[in-house]
Amino acid sequence: MCGIIGILGNHEVSPQLVEALKRLEYRGYDSAGVATVDADGKLSRRRAVGKLVNLSDRLVHEPLAGHAGIGHTRWATHGAATEANAHPHKRGPVAVVHNGIIENFRELRDEVIALGMTPESETDTETVALLTAWHMSQGLGPVQAARETLARLHGAFALAFLFEGEGNLMIAARKGSPLAVGTGDGEMFIGSDAVALAPFTDRITYLEDGDHAVITRAGAEIFDAEGLPANREIQQIDVGATRIDKGGFRHFMAKEIAEQPVVLGDALNHYIKGDRIVLPDAIDFRDVDRLTLVGCGTAFYAGYVARYWFETLAGIPCDLDVASEFRYREPPLSPKSWAMFVSQSGETADTLAALHYARDKVAKTVGVVNVGTSAIARDADIALPTLAGIEVGVASSKAFTCQLAVLAVLALKAAHDRGRLDDAGLAAHLADLRAIPGLLNQALAVSDGCRKLAGWLSEAQDVLYLGRGSFYPVALEGALKLKELSYIHAEGYASGELKHGPIALIDRNVPVVVVAPRDALFEKTVSNMQEVMARHGQVLLISDVEGIEAGGDGVHASLAMPQGGGSFQPILYAVPMQYLAYHTAVAKGTDVDQPRNLAKSVTVE
Ligand code: M6R
Repeated sequence: MCGIIGILGNHEVSPQLVEALKRLEYRGYDSAGVATVDADGKLSRRRAVGKLVNLSDRLVHEPLAGHAGIGHTRWATHGAATEANAHPHKRGPVAVVHNGIIENFRELRDEVIALGMTPESETDTETVALLTAWHMSQGLGPVQAARETLARLHGAFALAFLFEGEGNLMIAARKGSPLAVGTGDGEMFIGSDAVALAPFTDRITYLEDGDHAVITRAGAEIFDAEGLPANREIQQIDVGATRIDKGGFRHFMAKEIAEQPVVLGDALNHYIKGDRIVLPDAIDFRDVDRLTLVGCGTAFYAGYVARYWFETLAGIPCDLDVASEFRYREPPLSPKSWAMFVSQSGETADTLAALHYARDKVAKTVGVVNVGTSAIARDADIALPTLAGIEVGVASSKAFTCQLAVLAVLALKAAHDRGRLDDAGLAAHLADLRAIPGLLNQALAVSDGCRKLAGWLSEAQDVLYLGRGSFYPVALEGALKLKELSYIHAEGYASGELKHGPIALIDRNVPVVVVAPRDALFEKTVSNMQEVMARHGQVLLISDVEGIEAGGDGVHASLAMPQGGGSFQPILYAVPMQYLAYHTAVAKGTDVDQPRNLAKSVTVE
């Protein structure tokens, strides 16, 4: 989940490294660092704890010269966020940046200690620099020394090496973690993703698992896991789509919430033409006997909502799992089943591993992904883009609703393929779905109400979220949003489950957010709400006007949502979940776009 960058350029690279790191900061922001080789061949580094801005400040006071450099932004795995643990790790003539986890680092560390070397950090990465430096001290050249080291590493890694006295050499390697090589005009780049390289080049080569690349300004020689020369295609990437700004909003997240009507409309227009669903021909659900939906965090909750749609609309039995459990559970999968993997980044290590587990066991794997160039998009049999555009806020908002939109289209296609919906039925449901962008636009108006409630929520130590049916996963998502943005403990429960234990938590200090439009299950949820209020719980009811009229007596507050959207209303109710968390975080003064301890792309287990 760290971000790495490397440049063999024709100008001073420090500013470019920092610019690229800015684009990678979503991957972690515990510390940052850069190392360069200057005109005299001297390898030097600067590191700073905390956000990238601290490194930029440091570079103003202590500039770093050189046309060759590597950089890193860290999400701490081994060792606290200190300068000593910050990358690049430099030992002797070698500097290394790393994303991933070297699982056998303790064994390697003991080895280098036995060889008389002393680690200076608590990190797994430093052993890579130490081992390579040791091989060089034994007379190996940099390339061979790096290869000897790579052969010893277990775990997941994307690595870049830079060497003292070698201003025209960089070595990059990947196993598990993603790594892109960029080709410029007489310049070469490596980065954790193509977005980081977008300011410099649009010609990108993705290294495959086990590859390493020996890079000079003349190009990259790529070798596969067996050490044999490998041909990897240079792709032209659409750099136009990589503009990143807040567009006048205070936070990226505020902008991304507000963008939802537009991006979701674009996504629906991509997949629906008139009364027709437009999907690749291979998407035909007639012979599918079962579906497995897999994701992590918010993407898992998108799959959770979709399970209701696939089961109730299309009548397909659905299994659902978080990727980190699925991948090790060894679930038996029917050869006639399909497995769907939902991911914004398309790089989440557990979801990717779950896809790899499933791919030779099921009839088809489908990736529902936002980043079209990602590993999940590349490795799934069919990749369906969610078209949310770049999401910078670490807390997912528009990516979630666009995932829901694509999954809704898939569920309708399944219902039609399997004869559960005739043409007229499909057209009616498509009309409901197409109404969602307009309704989302109206739903944005709950922002004010959420802001007014933020003071109340920000005082709480615990908040419960309740929902039934397809609104239960919306409640789970609401609780996750509040936790990650405001650091307030929050849990989502199925409304009917409350009396089986969690009701013991209720007292007048526990706000209870009830997500309940006036649907067939509404009365049941109102009863659960009464049980909460009878125990002095403070209820915030989020419903439509009818629901608030019918069930709003005695609640602490209510938020009125627009009516409409049929089965797809859960998409609308994501908005108050997002705004409640957003405004509470602003009220508490937490870091909205980069909450503590988190990273946008979780590429380690
Ligand atoms: O990139 P992915 O969609 O695979 O990421 C999955 C989760 O890490 C992600 O949804 C996470 O839960 C978000 N921070 C939630 O806001």
